[in-house]
Amino acid sequence: MNANDLLKNIFETKKVVDDLGNEYELNSNLDEKEGEFLKKIIRENKPKNTIEVGCAYGISSLFICSELEKNKNVSHTIIDPFQSSDWKNIGITNLKKANVNFFNIIEKPSEIALPQLLEKQIKYDFAFIDGWHTFDHTLIDFFYLNRLINIGGIIVIDDVGLPGINKLMRYLLNYPSYKMIGNVEINVTKQREIFDLFFKLPFYIMSKILPMKIKYEIFASKVIKSDKKLKLKSSMIALQKISNDDRPWHWFKEF
Ligand SMILES: C[S@@+](CC[C@H](N)C(=O)[O-])C[C@H]1O[C@@H](n2cnc3c(N)ncnc32)[C@H](O)[C@@H]1O
Repeated sequence: MNANDLLKNIFETKKVVDDLGNEYELNSNLDEKEGEFLKKIIRENKPKNTIEVGCAYGISSLFICSELEKNKNVSHTIIDPFQSSDWKNIGITNLKKANVNFFNIIEKPSEIALPQLLEKQIKYDFAFIDGWHTFDHTLIDFFYLNRLINIGGIIVIDDVGLPGINKLMRYLLNYPSYKMIGNVEINVTKQREIFDLFFKLPFYIMSKILPMKIKYEIFASKVIKSDKKLKLKSSMIALQKISNDDRPWHWFKEF
């Protein structure tokens, strides 16, 4: 069975199966639209050495590897401290079922594994962050991946609709060495669009007119960022590293 067939089967049944044949409800995974987005990024940029944080039942890994296997001399590194305990090794089982033989798994928390990879001076062309979803944890993942990624490489961040990660994206989008190259949009209802228009628009306009300093004094951390490059209704965002990260030691931009 190839990765695409296995994915089709998993999404149809909404079940995954461990090595012993026990079935589990599919959960915590990215959806097909997000998976196709990862595949598109890989198809267009042809990375060789890729890495992902957060495997669970291996759905994102299957999407990544199904596209990656079309290239030569590729390798995929997966970091997840709970693959055997919480996820019954099903991520690994699924990759083996799909005949993926170019992956390795590091069963450690990313905050331990990533600095170890940095010490070994390993470089990557593509990274996917979908681990522990707090502001600080995702920032730590990005901090290390920024050092591990080649120029031209891409870092995709999942669940950017969550408040902590959304806030983090506002900060990361200020980095001069990154540009946003794509996103997956969340479908919003008509009611929600109308609500946003009437209730959020005045604040949005105010945040555009007021000088930065006053704006922050009034709204404190709840300030509405008037920045088109960040689509707040995204679920996933891809950033490309376009140059060396040579921000000075005191670099900071309001976010
Ligand atoms: C949302 S799930 C990942 C889903 C997966 N990407 C998919 O599409 O099926 C989050 C994963 O992060 C893992 N995780 C939790 N804490 C972590 C940490 N400190 N470092 C790396 N991964 C972590 C969990 O074990 C879980 O597998």
